[in-house]
Order: sequence, then structure tokens, then C-alpha cells
Amino acid sequence: MLSGNSASPIDHVPRKHQAYPGSQYALPTDQAENDRLQHQSLKKLFENRILLAPVDLEANDQVLEIGTGPGLWMLDLAGSVHPSVSMVGVDIESRLFPTHHPENLDFRIESVTNLPSDWSNKFSLVHQRLLMIALQIPEWPVALREIYRVIRPGGWVQLGEFNAWAEGDTPNKPCMEKLVAMFRCLVKSRNLYIDCAKDMPRMLEEAGFVDVQCKSRMPKIGKWAGELGVANGITNAGVLRGIKTPILKAGGYGKVTSETEYDSLLDGVQREWDEAPTAENPDIQKEFNIFWARKPIT
Ligand SMILES: C[S@@+](CC[C@H](N)C(=O)[O-])C[C@H]1O[C@@H](n2cnc3c(N)ncnc32)[C@H](O)[C@@H]1O
Repeated sequence: MLSGNSASPIDHVPRKHQAYPGSQYALPTDQAENDRLQHQSLKKLFENRILLAPVDLEANDQVLEIGTGPGLWMLDLAGSVHPSVSMVGVDIESRLFPTHHPENLDFRIESVTNLPSDWSNKFSLVHQRLLMIALQIPEWPVALREIYRVIRPGGWVQLGEFNAWAEGDTPNKPCMEKLVAMFRCLVKSRNLYIDCAKDMPRMLEEAGFVDVQCKSRMPKIGKWAGELGVANGITNAGVLRGIKTPILKAGGYGKVTSETEYDSLLDGVQREWDEAPTAENPDIQKEFNIFWARKPIT
């Protein structure tokens, strides 16, 4: 049962959000979100590697990407594997799917919590990235069991998730603190597993995976961190802009009373990020983690 918010919705022009039955995914699915999704900056964090799972894709292997959105990871992988490797990207919303893609790629609407029954033991590799604002706490074990089911024995899963912003992390950044407080209220009201990264190794093992591994990298954010810091700032500001509609619809959680107030907090956050971090006023960014694990042969 979701805990409701009795405050009246705050007037604003809403962004387009998904309408998949039962989904609590909180980010929009529109052109601005498409432009925001950053594959290159995440790739650079890992020395331009997009595949950490030790899988050698061979001719006729099959790859699945879940929550593919515009399919950026899959399109990149397609450039480095044999064209007979077939890849399917699934998402609960088709609006971001690429209009042009190589013939060995396919895109379809599916939810990770209920993948097609005839996909058991099919894929050599399953990739899923950035569903921390999408899946509810009880949905993660279901999703990981589904992923396990569709991987062939000996195949690999690779997942990417950030550690989540928490209230009190940056007390000297008042705009960020207020936005993080609203962000936390939103994810709580939707029962989203925003801290899923912390529990991922355990959840993977409970789903049956072995050889669970993780590498974490700290992206920098803000002008002080150069070109990549600016790019990360744009992506992260996009998340806070992206959750504006659900926050204003919920009445602002007692933190803002108008869209203008929300937007000026966003402007303030950009200024806060651009200041070089100090011991008293640290950087706000959190680690990005890549997890990988294998389905046993027997
Ligand atoms: C933040 S975007 C990440 C897109 C892509 N993975 C990337 O890294 O660029 C999250 C995506 O997950 C999708 N999504 C949310 N809930 C889902 C579910 N239950 N099953 C499959 N996809 C889902 C959303 O529609 C959205 O496209």
C-alpha cells in the first residue's frame, strides 16, 4: 500500500511519464530525458569499458538489455561483437527506443518483473542499468529471479546502479539538502528501492548467482571537475528536474509551494555543485557501481 500525500497538487506543466500498469518508475519518458541519459560519462569512469562481466560473446549468442531506454549500451556493444549475436532491449515504455539500429538488435515492451515464459535459459548476457528509481523494494528479488531464469547456465548478468543521495550528506548545500529531502519523500511514498546498490551482492546470491563481483567508481560533478564534471552536472540536474512532476503532483512534501520555488532550488543546486569541494563542504556525488555474477552451469 502506498502512503499517500494529502497536500494539493502544485500547478505546473507536467512532463510525459510512463503509464505501464503498476509501475512506480518516477522519471519522465520524453525527449529531454532521452537527451539526459548519459552513456559516455559512465563508460569513461571504467576506462571506456562497458562490459566488466568476463563473457566472450560468440556467434549466435543472445544478449538481453533490460530497461534499455534509448538502447545506448546495446548500440555500443553491437559495434564490437559479431553481427550474428542477437540482442533484444526491453523496457516498459517504447517512447525512447531508437528509430535506427543494426538488424541484429530488436526492441520490445516487457517488464523485468515478468519476462516472457519462453525465454528461460536463453541469454548469454543480461545487462540492466539505472533502475533504482523504477523498482519497488519487493520487486528487486522478483526481477533478479527473472533475470536468473532467462540466463543460460554459465551465462552472466551485469547491473549498474548508483549509491543514492541521502539527507544530511551535504549540510552546507541547502538547496541540495532540500531537493534530496523531497527526492527521499518521493521514493518512500512509492516504496522504491533507492538504496538497492547496498544490497545487490546479497540479492544476487539469494537469486542463485555465483561469482558475484563489484567495481565502484566515483564520478565528479560540477564546473571545478572540468568537462566530465559539467556533463555529470547536466545528467544529475536532469534527474532532479525529471522528478519535479511527481513531487509537485504530491504537493511538494512541505518543502516547496510552487514550481518557481522548485526551479530556483534547481538553479541553487547548480551553483552549489560548481563550488570546488572542501572538507566542510564536500562533493555531493555518490559512487556508480557495476555488479556482475554468473548463473552456475548446474
Ligand atoms: C534511468 S532509465 C535508464 C536507461 C538505460 N538503462 C541507460 O542506462 O541509459 C531507466 C529505464 O528503465 C525503464 N524501466 C522502468 N521500470 C522497468 C521495468 N519494470 N522493466 C523494464 N524496464 C523498466 C524505464 O522506462 C527507463 O527507460
